[in-house]
Amino acid sequence: MTDFTPNEPVLTPIKNHAEELAKAEASVASLAAGRNNRWYPKFHIASNGGWINDPNGLCHYKGRWHVFYQLHPYGTQWGPMHWGHVSSKDMVHWKREPIMFAPSLEQEKDGVFSGSAVIGDDGRLRFYYTGHRWANGKDNTGGDWQVQMLAEPDDDELTSATKRGMVIDCPTDKVDHHYRDPKVWKTGDTWYMTFGVSSAQKRGQMWLFSSKDMVRWTYERVLFEHPDPNVFMLECPDFFPIRDAQGNEKWVIGFSAMGAKPRGFMNRNANNAGYMIGTWAPGKAFHPETEFRPWDCGHNYYAPQSFNDGKRQIVYGWMSPFATPICMEDDGWCGNLTLPREIILGADGDLHTPPVAEMEGLREDTVDFGAISLDANDGRIIADDAEAVEIELTIDLAASTAERAGLKVHATPDGAYTYIAFDAQIGCIVLDRQANARGDRGYRAAPLSEAELAADELTLRVFVDRGCVETYANGGHQVMSSYSYASVGSRAIELVTESGTLEVKSLKLHHLKSIGLE
Ligand code: FRU
Repeated sequence: MTDFTPNEPVLTPIKNHAEELAKAEASVASLAAGRNNRWYPKFHIASNGGWINDPNGLCHYKGRWHVFYQLHPYGTQWGPMHWGHVSSKDMVHWKREPIMFAPSLEQEKDGVFSGSAVIGDDGRLRFYYTGHRWANGKDNTGGDWQVQMLAEPDDDELTSATKRGMVIDCPTDKVDHHYRDPKVWKTGDTWYMTFGVSSAQKRGQMWLFSSKDMVRWTYERVLFEHPDPNVFMLECPDFFPIRDAQGNEKWVIGFSAMGAKPRGFMNRNANNAGYMIGTWAPGKAFHPETEFRPWDCGHNYYAPQSFNDGKRQIVYGWMSPFATPICMEDDGWCGNLTLPREIILGADGDLHTPPVAEMEGLREDTVDFGAISLDANDGRIIADDAEAVEIELTIDLAASTAERAGLKVHATPDGAYTYIAFDAQIGCIVLDRQANARGDRGYRAAPLSEAELAADELTLRVFVDRGCVETYANGGHQVMSSYSYASVGSRAIELVTESGTLEVKSLKLHHLKSIGLE
């Protein structure tokens, strides 16, 4: 224990939690009643109505997968945070669950911020999250005042929880306001917690705490400090072991860095989420063995959280919509999560994040195009009107001479489209929104490795939902997630090639079923 880690949780209710939850439910329902579905996802997790951000409390518990998320139920912009909730018994069909947390304690009066879930030795789940208050008591002009909180579910279905209160206070003289997003795990016989901190010197750090009983926590050390002095905060830190095919254990540190400057293809979003691979042992700092690598190179990816479901490490990200205009805010909802992705440590020493195998369970009405050859500058329509589809595409790199080739999706009668292409000149997968009629434009590029560029073929899986596109190259070695606000009318998909030929070894188009949350 330290002077900022109390012996007992500090519980100071200021509102009736049940009443706050009921008000939040009513507000989400009224936003949902007026929702416009033109970009509302069919197979991505989103709230019925209102704003969402980070995935929270991810777990597999008593036979169900649970996804909670930061929710502002009273509007389509960010605001006082609650936790929304959906669950699934197969990761294909999802069900809405009651809102889990609304602000009701003194320490969280301005928001129940992000956190995680972990199963204790007694088989029972715990939630750790950040209680958020504005330091000046009224708004963000005086910065944050944040502490770590504990809650326990009331039932095996996780339909409600009891808040236990604050378990880690903030030593405000050592912290520059930002102090949040706890992640808990067990190594040996000790529980550990890390969360993101902006130090008094405004450096982005992750602090490490330990506990024997999951309630009383002791400060251990700084687990990691970001080497870039521009990085002042590491949001939503993640930390987990992973084994390569030979069984060697590594540790992965993940975080959403605030303050890094754009450089080349890196750090192009407002804030940027990525990871480093290295080693760690209890009592030690994390020792990185790689540079910082992005989880996803698209326009809209932030605040991912991973969890182990007993078989594999799975990560969900939030498709952060921050570049304006945010068109879906007019539609009664805002924001969705990415597909769930499995995290695999490849033989190349890098992480690969393909969609979990369960995503194949959404496929129906598959059209198999087989091999396709396109002459220079040619094109072929592969769908006249595709609302929710997955395209599997293998390009014969050795036989193609195209400068750039790929898929135009959300191609509408007004001439707008989003372009996902292999760009041979810069050796990248590119997601280009310059021809979008709405929203932020610009392009993002995901560099391929030397080995991938020298290979005979390139495989792409492109998931097109009503308002967003996810692209997985080479089994998830590169991933890109971007919103794409399709215009009015039919949404065609066209295979195209520019300045050179394209040889496609195989192309399949799968229509995808709804995950059941519409
Ligand atoms: C990241 C984040 C977290 C915080 C939450 C608040 O997007 O800022 O650090 O807990 O969102 O909604």
